[in-house]
Amino acid sequence: MPSFRGSSQPRDQAFVSWSPASHWVTHSVPIIVSSLFPMQVIERNADPEVTLLMRLTGTKYACGRGGCGACTVMVSKRDPTHFSVTACLVPICSLYGAAVTTVEGVGSIKTRLHPVQERIAKSHGTQCGFCTPGMVMSMYTLLRNHPQPSEEQLLEALAGNLCRCTGYRPILASGKTFCLESNGCQQKGTGKCCLDLGENDSSSLGRKSDICTELFVKEEFQPLDPTQELIFPPELLRMAEDPEKRTLTFHGERVTWISPGTFKDLLELKAKHPEAPLILGNTSLGPAMRSKGHFHPILLSPARISELNVVSKTNDGLTIGAGCSLAHVKDILAERVSELPEEKTQTYRALLKHLKSLAGQQIRNMASLGGHIISRHSYSDLNPILAVGNTTLNLTSEEGTRRIPLSEHFLAGLASADLKPEEILESVYIPHSQKWEFVSAFRQAQCQHNALPDVNAGMRVLFKEGTDIIEDLSITYGGVGAATVSAHKSCQQLLGRQWDELMLDEACRRLLDEVSLPGWAPGGRVEFKRTLVVSFFFKFYLQVLQELKKLIKPFPVPVSSLAFMGSWQHKLPPSPFLLQTSVDSHQPLQDPVGRPVMHLSGLKHATGEAEFCDDIPMVDKELHMALVTSTRAYAKIISIDLSKALEIPGVVDVITAKDIPGTNGTEDDKLLAVDEVLCVGQIICAVVAETDVQAKRAIEKIKITYEELEPIIFTIEDAIKHNSFLCPEKKLEQGNIEEAFEKVDQIVEGEVHVGGQEHFYMETQRVLVIPKTEDKELDIYVSTQDPAHVQKTVSSTLHIPINRITCHVKRVGGGFGGKIGRPAVFGAIAAVGALKTGHPIRLVLDREDDMLITGGRHPLFGKYKVGFMNNGRIKALDIECFINGGCTLDDSELVTEFLILKLENAYKIRNLRFRGRACLTNLPSNTAFRGFGFPQGTLVTESCITAVAAKCGLPPEKIREKNMYQTVDKTIYKQAFNPESLIRCWNECLDTSSFHNRRMQVEEFNKKNYWKKRGIAVIPMKFSVGFAATSYHQAAALVHIYTDGSVLVTHGGNELGQGIHTKMLQVASRELKIPMSYLHICETSTATVPNTIATAASIGADTNGRAVQNACQILLKRLEPIIKKNPEGTWEEWIEAAFEQRISLSATGYFRGYKAFMDWEKGEGDPFPYYVYGAACSEVEIDCLTGAHKKIRTDIVMDACCSLNPAIDIGQIEGAFIQGMGLYTTEELKYSPEGVLYSRGPDEYKIPTISDVPEEFNVSLLPSSQTPLTIYSSKGLGESGMFLGSSVFFAITDAVAAARKERDIAEDFTVKSPATPEWVRMACADRFTEMVWNYRLFF
Ligand SMILES: Cc1cc2nc3c(=O)[nH]c(=O)nc-3n(C[C@H](O)[C@H](O)[C@H](O)COP(=O)(O)OP(=O)(O)OC[C@H]3O[C@@H](n4cnc5c(N)ncnc54)[C@H](O)[C@@H]3O)c2cc1C
Ligand code: FES
Ligand code: FES
Repeated sequence: MPSFRGSSQPRDQAFVSWSPASHWVTHSVPIIVSSLFPMQVIERNADPEVTLLMRLTGTKYACGRGGCGACTVMVSKRDPTHFSVTACLVPICSLYGAAVTTVEGVGSIKTRLHPVQERIAKSHGTQCGFCTPGMVMSMYTLLRNHPQPSEEQLLEALAGNLCRCTGYRPILASGKTFCLESNGCQQKGTGKCCLDLGENDSSSLGRKSDICTELFVKEEFQPLDPTQELIFPPELLRMAEDPEKRTLTFHGERVTWISPGTFKDLLELKAKHPEAPLILGNTSLGPAMRSKGHFHPILLSPARISELNVVSKTNDGLTIGAGCSLAHVKDILAERVSELPEEKTQTYRALLKHLKSLAGQQIRNMASLGGHIISRHSYSDLNPILAVGNTTLNLTSEEGTRRIPLSEHFLAGLASADLKPEEILESVYIPHSQKWEFVSAFRQAQCQHNALPDVNAGMRVLFKEGTDIIEDLSITYGGVGAATVSAHKSCQQLLGRQWDELMLDEACRRLLDEVSLPGWAPGGRVEFKRTLVVSFFFKFYLQVLQELKKLIKPFPVPVSSLAFMGSWQHKLPPSPFLLQTSVDSHQPLQDPVGRPVMHLSGLKHATGEAEFCDDIPMVDKELHMALVTSTRAYAKIISIDLSKALEIPGVVDVITAKDIPGTNGTEDDKLLAVDEVLCVGQIICAVVAETDVQAKRAIEKIKITYEELEPIIFTIEDAIKHNSFLCPEKKLEQGNIEEAFEKVDQIVEGEVHVGGQEHFYMETQRVLVIPKTEDKELDIYVSTQDPAHVQKTVSSTLHIPINRITCHVKRVGGGFGGKIGRPAVFGAIAAVGALKTGHPIRLVLDREDDMLITGGRHPLFGKYKVGFMNNGRIKALDIECFINGGCTLDDSELVTEFLILKLENAYKIRNLRFRGRACLTNLPSNTAFRGFGFPQGTLVTESCITAVAAKCGLPPEKIREKNMYQTVDKTIYKQAFNPESLIRCWNECLDTSSFHNRRMQVEEFNKKNYWKKRGIAVIPMKFSVGFAATSYHQAAALVHIYTDGSVLVTHGGNELGQGIHTKMLQVASRELKIPMSYLHICETSTATVPNTIATAASIGADTNGRAVQNACQILLKRLEPIIKKNPEGTWEEWIEAAFEQRISLSATGYFRGYKAFMDWEKGEGDPFPYYVYGAACSEVEIDCLTGAHKKIRTDIVMDACCSLNPAIDIGQIEGAFIQGMGLYTTEELKYSPEGVLYSRGPDEYKIPTISDVPEEFNVSLLPSSQTPLTIYSSKGLGESGMFLGSSVFFAITDAVAAARKERDIAEDFTVKSPATPEWVRMACADRFTEMVWNYRLFF
């Protein structure tokens, strides 16, 4: 049986085939296989609007736009060519004749695991597991095509898959076990294994006998045997050999899909339906139909037309069929480059360069060359190069063929230079380049890979033979206007000029003049883009100069001083160095505590068998809900007209505030808006319909009229101006700050701006509410960190006692704080729908809605004044912080408190004043996020340190060391602590990273390079875990032993990917002295463990671990007399005896946790149970001309005390570090002037990708110390690593400072995070930024 998303059919088998329901075609259409036992399913009524994703379960939905890879599957059309695709963009109609392999088809825990699945799980490459099926499928497809891939191929294959949890390192480690080059750990890129490095090697990490460096045993992996793979289905082979020539048609509800079998039919159809687009990869049409509302009643699919895939090589060029995929184009070009002399392949090389970074592998597999050219996106990476490379387009229609140039007029969409409506693009001719001709491509994006470019360019110059005189020149830019722009006029004016500095200067002026960007450009960033326009030309100038120098001897222009600006090749990190303390050699083998036990669900994640909320099969009479949100930032609701929405077929009801029987949230924070809205994205009402698609169509039809209110406040600055705050100021003070400022040598004042951050958990918010027939009972399946809060909110909303409502959480696809408060809102609204309609309600947020509605990390604005002595000793520090809380209080007061409490970080400064306020603005309410204020606030403190260092002329690490806590002391809130582990982490980090040597090497590099600079930074960290309130430090567990000896453990923590269930079973196993195989955790449920605390603040495993321990100890105590009586007996015998003797085999465990309090009046307290210490050192290289950076190396040392599970803890550290790196470098939220969030998906909001992992990444856990408070002296490491990502930020600012010093630019004490390419480029001011600035003054 096939398995469909939300269907009640079995989900371990997939999938599908269909037949056109058309009256045109009578034959059925075979197709798709994917389960381990290939099957063919005929689906009648294939709807052209339905994508493959909507039909799958193991395959995950996370963005719906092809940008995250969570829905990756393998498509095979012809043996043995297999390619990965993103199912969310693949219309099922396009799969005629194709076999689809989903993650279920690769392997299963019930039958046989595939090595890819086994290795990703056992290498600890899964945390929440939501991205894992996609990762598996990308890797599996790679191995089907290349059983022993190169590391470069591995990186390429995974670059289109996002993971928000792991930080990618373990995923790469698992993939590398298949690679050719993976023998030996190649520590530090030396090619040698770390174990062979000598003691005296400066980079040796000081191995000790009690230290392990491996988290998995490679030798235990089953080998990859390509002969065991599924064969290509014979029926498809027969079809491929004897292709169907008839036209196939599929009629959907609104759209007809026509797939001709011959070229002639295609031309005929195009003439008949000139307005119908050709659908190839659907990577341009699909997203436009989905998010821009583009609608095409007829789609023509030329997928079966072989003429569009013809490639022909001639002596003067290459003709590529328009239907060829970009991945195929890449292969063709690579082949040509290897066959032809370099001078002939200039254009091909430039295209190849961009094809490597254009989107992910899946998109390149799907997208066609023709679709790319015809879409004419202003950001197109290929069109600028094709245009300068004199490409011609071969067009065909029923009338015949003709050729047009891919010119600036074509790119601008001029009718005279365009295709006629009845024409199609058959092929593309790209001529060879010639001697004395040079072609280059440039591109700058937020990240190096899988990110749309901000600006790109193609440039070509032809010289008069034997000279440096320009005979022909073409320059084309993307990203600077509505279309790709040619600088034709400038180029013409430079003909006949010599390739020298004078020409460069004139060219830059002319380019700035012609490529005008008049205060507007897609995505803004105008000055940055203008700077790139000239910086790219300068790079081209340098590159060509180097080439000319080789050709013309003697060369007239001196070029020795020029630094060559080669592009970076991203290298796969060598096997990382992971250090962790081994367990005591006396510990019984059976005791799993302290061992790197694999995540309990790891294998199920890898096979797609792990069930997330939306994988729950469709329940009887289920309805779907979609939310209607405000389009105004602050307005009165005048009217809501639902009539048109209710007319839509399938729509059942619209839920408004009037339908709420109980309380509608709170006065200041309503579930559904009543009279006014406070931000764009506030929920107003919700449509309930039979299908998700109908519900979404209906929300478009709801008419809401508003009356704008004032003042509308978006920024912290505006909030301060309007005195708009959510709560009173929080303040801590120590010493006498005013007096201290009078006695210091120097004072610096500065500002720090830290941008917000989107949680971007891979699984968006989702809930399924099932009303029961009796006693108003409800079952709620929800993706949350706090089921008790959902239960309570639903209870008050429906006015039903809490005991009628049961919340179930099996697992959560990432939370990071974003699933503490909000799921209760979605649960309550869905519950109102369920109560009103009497039907189960499923609510799954789209990525766009999730990002729009939910809010994230609070942006921060900090002002500091720091007084210090000339030797760097800080005597007084005054910091005032403001955070943007958005339109309701949510957690903003708590975040302010935590921020102030943690602001001192690792430093002992006698005179301090910290103040913080949360601003009330008209943005969606910001909320909890990993680190809870610490990552933002402490950036202010660390920025003070760098400012002091700059003023004293000392390196920042010296200032850090000088001011760090040294002995047992008290914090600003007078809590005593011992900084010994902090100092150990710091020293170890300096040592293992060879910091001082590398600082000197960085300086040497910087002396020799003007346009590239390196930076290095080491950051200490003191992070307090836990909540600052006693009532939050409690936990309960329920442990049942069944009569067969098996044990069911339940506790109050939720599995968010952080491995809490795995750790809990490790605890139970040790306490009950039985193997983990006897133990099981089913889910977290409010019916088994009530009144739970949110799984947050890094202490989930601490508190729940103690509760599980307590329950197990109670049970063991009951069993003791039986064991004593029969010490040689087995566990099963003891349990049987206990049952016979009427001994209860069920126990509740409870942990009455730490006392935590804070007296804000007195400014003192004991708010945190303990601290986690750490240090991180990062080194980067920046490109001063583009603002790009590469991460050369990161070393982290963390104090985990006695880790419960080093694999899980290292995973938390790495994952948090990479998430922190995203916060400080690439993740940027963009709003319109009206307060609408622009960055609502992976295209616009860039979380780190696999190629952002530092090229060398070492993590070590400090050899054990003790923390008596926690379970087995372990420490909670969920959040702390986040801040260590700032080491990358400070390394970037260090490199920028070096560039500015060399350019003699004054110090600037305004710090801005994220350090995006835009910020870096503009901070490294030079003659080009000056040109842009001057141009702005004059025009
Ligand atoms: C996640 C993602 C990331 C991306 N990243 C990048 C990037 O970094 N850089 C970049 O440059 N691009 C990027 N793109 C854009 C991508 O390159 C284009 O969407 C793609 O090349 C379009 O090809 P397609 O076959 O999917 O076109 P389709 O969507 O199938 O069709 C697009 C249009 O082309 C027309 N068309 C197609 N073929 C023909 C033909 N033979 N004759 C006449 N008309 C035709 C169709 O009528 C339609 O209007 C990205 C896209 C996605 C989804
Ligand atoms: S790429 Fe398909 S869901 Fe993200
Ligand atoms: S494990 Fe990758 S997103 Fe959670």
